[in-house]
Amino acid sequence: MSATAHGTARVADFDGLQIEYDDRVLQPRPWTAEQSRWAAELIRSAPPGPVLELCSGVGHIGLLAVSLAPRSLVCVDADAGACAYLRRNAAHAGIRVDVREGLMDEVLDADERFAVVIADPPWVTSDDVGRYPEDPLLAIDGGPDGLDLVRACLEVIDDHLVEGGHALLQTGPDQPDAVTALVAAYDALTVREVRLQERGALVRIDRAVGAGRTD
Ligand SMILES: C[S@@+](CC[C@H](N)C(=O)[O-])C[C@H]1O[C@@H](n2cnc3c(N)ncnc32)[C@H](O)[C@@H]1O
Repeated sequence: MSATAHGTARVADFDGLQIEYDDRVLQPRPWTAEQSRWAAELIRSAPPGPVLELCSGVGHIGLLAVSLAPRSLVCVDADAGACAYLRRNAAHAGIRVDVREGLMDEVLDADERFAVVIADPPWVTSDDVGRYPEDPLLAIDGGPDGLDLVRACLEVIDDHLVEGGHALLQTGPDQPDAVTALVAAYDALTVREVRLQERGALVRIDRAVGAGRTD
């Protein structure tokens, strides 16, 4: 453990990456390395372009993905403390990251495009956040139905994913059907595959070649 400007830091080993965090941010969950590994597979066959990570927290999921399949990485998170750790974790891993500190619908330029989007939004319903007293509200509160930030991620994905690109969205274990229904409202986006994980689910969303943006 070490003292930082942000608090008392702990270090987690995340599939070989040394990830610093403290109790003001979400503790890295080992099973989420599966999102990194699947994202790396998608990156290897994706069109040219950088990777965008939404709701990156201290950055371990995106950092592991691009350490396995190197690409430029842009990370977005609203929490200043998480972004400070993300910068430290990226430097420690020797990976250059463009960190955008702020709300996901405010920190990207309209003309920015990404080949792969990794997203890990809060997904707990507001009524249930009390079940996770150790977790910061900003990291887990997904609104009345748990899907407010999923909806925000889908808007960003629709606006910024290139044709032929892939998005990998982490959700609650019982949310893939609801997410599939939300994705159906976007002409250009399709749910390609759902994988249930230890304590959540991963939803792969593709933008077809020739598919425009939903306006
Ligand atoms: C479920 S946590 C995931 C963090 C990290 N990926 C992890 O595995 O620990 C969700 C993250 O979303 C961030 N967040 C919440 N609302 C946001 C918003 N509107 N725009 C950008 N980030 C947001 C929180 O600060 C938090 O770091």
